Amino acid sequence: SSSLPIFSQEEVSRHRTLEDGIWVTYKGGVYDITEFVAIHPGGDKIMLAAGGSVEPFWALYAVHNQEHVLEMLSEYKATES
Ligand code: HEM
Repeated sequence: SSSLPIFSQEEVSRHRTLEDGIWVTYKGGVYDITEFVAIHPGGDKIMLAAGGSVEPFWALYAVHNQEHVLEMLSEYKATES
Protein backbone atom coordinates (compact mmCIF):
# COMPACT_ATOMS: atom_id res chain seq x y z
CA SER A 1 0.00 0.00 0.00
CA SER A 2 1.06 3.61 -0.35
CA SER A 3 0.40 6.69 1.70
CA LEU A 4 0.27 10.32 0.72
CA PRO A 5 1.02 13.36 2.88
CA ILE A 6 -1.65 15.81 4.01
CA PHE A 7 -1.10 19.43 2.96
CA SER A 8 -2.71 22.52 4.47
CA GLN A 9 -4.51 25.09 2.32
CA GLU A 10 -1.87 27.58 3.45
CA GLU A 11 0.93 25.40 2.10
CA VAL A 12 -0.91 24.97 -1.20
CA SER A 13 -1.34 28.74 -1.49
CA ARG A 14 2.41 29.21 -1.20
CA HIS A 15 2.86 27.36 -4.52
CA ARG A 16 1.80 29.69 -7.28
CA THR A 17 4.96 30.40 -9.27
CA LEU A 18 7.28 28.30 -11.42
CA GLU A 19 10.04 29.05 -8.93
CA ASP A 20 8.12 27.83 -5.85
CA GLY A 21 6.21 25.20 -7.81
CA ILE A 22 2.59 25.40 -8.94
CA TRP A 23 0.04 23.46 -6.93
CA VAL A 24 -3.72 23.20 -7.29
CA THR A 25 -6.44 21.33 -5.47
CA TYR A 26 -9.29 19.26 -6.84
CA LYS A 27 -11.86 17.56 -4.58
CA GLY A 28 -9.53 17.47 -1.59
CA GLY A 29 -6.50 16.23 -3.54
CA VAL A 30 -3.33 18.30 -4.00
CA TYR A 31 -1.54 18.31 -7.35
CA ASP A 32 1.89 19.65 -8.30
CA ILE A 33 1.31 20.80 -11.88
CA THR A 34 4.60 22.69 -12.26
CA GLU A 35 5.64 20.49 -15.19
CA PHE A 36 2.21 20.56 -16.78
CA VAL A 37 1.52 24.28 -17.13
CA ALA A 38 3.76 24.63 -20.21
CA ILE A 39 1.85 21.88 -22.04
CA HIS A 40 -1.68 22.84 -20.94
CA PRO A 41 -3.92 22.93 -24.02
CA GLY A 42 -5.68 26.01 -22.58
CA GLY A 43 -2.43 27.95 -22.20
CA ASP A 44 -1.76 30.47 -19.43
CA LYS A 45 -5.32 30.48 -18.14
CA ILE A 46 -4.30 27.58 -15.92
CA MET A 47 -2.32 30.06 -13.81
CA LEU A 48 -5.58 31.57 -12.55
CA ALA A 49 -5.95 28.46 -10.39
CA ALA A 50 -2.34 28.42 -9.14
CA GLY A 51 -2.23 27.94 -5.37
CA GLY A 52 -5.94 27.15 -5.11
CA SER A 53 -8.81 25.07 -6.40
CA VAL A 54 -9.35 24.34 -10.09
CA GLU A 55 -13.02 23.62 -9.45
CA PRO A 56 -14.52 27.11 -10.03
CA PHE A 57 -12.61 27.33 -13.32
CA TRP A 58 -13.51 23.84 -14.45
CA ALA A 59 -17.14 24.72 -13.77
CA LEU A 60 -16.75 27.47 -16.37
CA TYR A 61 -14.65 25.47 -18.86
CA ALA A 62 -16.56 22.21 -19.21
CA VAL A 63 -13.91 20.82 -21.55
CA HIS A 64 -12.32 19.47 -18.34
CA ASN A 65 -15.34 17.34 -17.54
CA GLN A 66 -13.87 14.27 -19.22
CA GLU A 67 -12.24 11.11 -17.92
CA HIS A 68 -8.98 11.71 -19.77
CA VAL A 69 -8.52 15.06 -18.03
CA LEU A 70 -8.89 13.48 -14.58
CA GLU A 71 -6.49 10.70 -15.54
CA MET A 72 -3.96 13.33 -16.55
CA LEU A 73 -4.45 15.25 -13.31
CA SER A 74 -3.98 12.10 -11.22
CA GLU A 75 -0.43 11.75 -12.50
CA TYR A 76 0.52 15.01 -10.76
CA LYS A 77 -0.53 14.11 -7.22
CA ALA A 78 1.74 16.02 -4.85
CA THR A 79 4.03 13.84 -2.77
CA GLU A 80 6.37 16.31 -1.09
CA SER A 81 6.90 20.06 -0.73
C1 HEM B 1 -8.27 22.65 -22.14
C2 HEM B 1 -6.22 20.19 -18.52
C3 HEM B 1 -6.77 24.02 -15.60
C4 HEM B 1 -8.76 26.50 -19.23
C5 HEM B 1 -7.70 21.64 -21.40
C6 HEM B 1 -7.45 20.29 -21.87
C7 HEM B 1 -6.87 19.62 -20.89
C8 HEM B 1 -6.75 20.51 -19.75
C9 HEM B 1 -6.40 18.16 -20.90
C10 HEM B 1 -7.83 19.73 -23.26
C11 HEM B 1 -9.14 18.98 -23.12
C12 HEM B 1 -9.65 18.43 -24.44
O1 HEM B 1 -9.66 19.17 -25.44
O2 HEM B 1 -10.07 17.26 -24.45
C13 HEM B 1 -6.19 21.01 -17.42
C14 HEM B 1 -5.65 20.64 -16.12
C15 HEM B 1 -5.80 21.73 -15.31
C16 HEM B 1 -6.44 22.78 -16.09
C17 HEM B 1 -5.06 19.26 -15.79
C18 HEM B 1 -5.41 21.92 -13.86
C19 HEM B 1 -4.52 21.16 -13.25
C20 HEM B 1 -7.40 25.01 -16.30
C21 HEM B 1 -7.85 26.28 -15.76
C22 HEM B 1 -8.42 26.97 -16.80
C23 HEM B 1 -8.32 26.14 -17.98
C24 HEM B 1 -7.68 26.70 -14.31
C25 HEM B 1 -9.07 28.33 -16.81
C26 HEM B 1 -8.93 29.23 -15.87
C27 HEM B 1 -8.77 25.69 -20.32
C28 HEM B 1 -9.32 26.06 -21.62
C29 HEM B 1 -9.19 24.95 -22.46
C30 HEM B 1 -8.56 23.90 -21.67
C31 HEM B 1 -9.92 27.42 -21.97
C32 HEM B 1 -9.64 24.82 -23.93
C33 HEM B 1 -8.47 25.10 -24.84
C34 HEM B 1 -8.90 24.99 -26.30
O3 HEM B 1 -9.36 23.91 -26.70
O4 HEM B 1 -8.75 25.98 -27.01
N1 HEM B 1 -7.27 21.75 -20.10
N2 HEM B 1 -6.65 22.31 -17.37
N3 HEM B 1 -7.71 24.96 -17.64
N4 HEM B 1 -8.31 24.39 -20.41
FE1 HEM B 1 -7.46 23.37 -18.90
